[in-house]
Amino acid sequence: MRFDVLTLFPGMFTGPLSESILKRAIQAGCIAVVLHDIRAYATDRHRTTDDAPYGGGAGMVMKPEPLAACIRAVLAMNGGGETGHNSPVILLTPDGEPFTQRIAAELATYPRLVLVCGRYEGVDERVREALITRELSIGDYVLTGGELAAMVVIDAVARLVPGVIDSESTAEESFSDGLLEYPQYTRPAVWEGRAVPPVLVSGHHGEVAQWRRRERLRRTFERRPDLLVRAALTDADRAYLRTLGWSDPGNGGTGREHRSPVE
Ligand code: ADE
Repeated sequence: MRFDVLTLFPGMFTGPLSESILKRAIQAGCIAVVLHDIRAYATDRHRTTDDAPYGGGAGMVMKPEPLAACIRAVLAMNGGGETGHNSPVILLTPDGEPFTQRIAAELATYPRLVLVCGRYEGVDERVREALITRELSIGDYVLTGGELAAMVVIDAVARLVPGVIDSESTAEESFSDGLLEYPQYTRPAVWEGRAVPPVLVSGHHGEVAQWRRRERLRRTFERRPDLLVRAALTDADRAYLRTLGWSDPGNGGTGREHRSPVE
């Protein structure tokens, strides 16, 4: 899978891409990350990429011409083969659709993604209308630019590309079925007076599996009850959750309203 990243600051990507799993995925040819400097597509003497907003106001806006030229040049490159022109062109922006594990899984099915990093106060709206096919936000906070958000998207998508990590690791993890993860322990069995839960050293696979499922349910109920509304729950799951004080909402609520009215 190929990621084309359009940015004014290509140097921001070198650290994260040259360590650990992403580094290995690139070396193994599972993913490729191609950085494109938007400034190289500016045509004036000063290589200007931003300008003051029409109507006044603070900050600068990314000019349409260099960004559009960069996007078009990247789409014309043959990196995506026959599908190059159908690649999603994704703008990272705080007013985009919230990025989720579901979207990461969907994006992992494309042979190529084009990621556009916005800077300054934003991107000229006409480029968004003309060339951007999807807009993503990684959370309700404002970063100095889309670079770190693009890195987050690359990381979350890359680990779902076959061969990057073993598929067992992604099958049972948080969010893939709508529940948070169970707690993990490794040796020593007692650390600073804290023992590992006895069931984990009991050797009873069935009991371990039930304990883990219940821990996932409990964690999700305590920390993210909103997730339970869409989680795939069995009758046994619901019965266990009710022992914790959960009330099956069935009405779009989270089942915790009676306990924490301020949430
Ligand atoms: N650019 C600035 N803030 C952002 C955010 N929260 N998500 C995606 N892109 C951004």
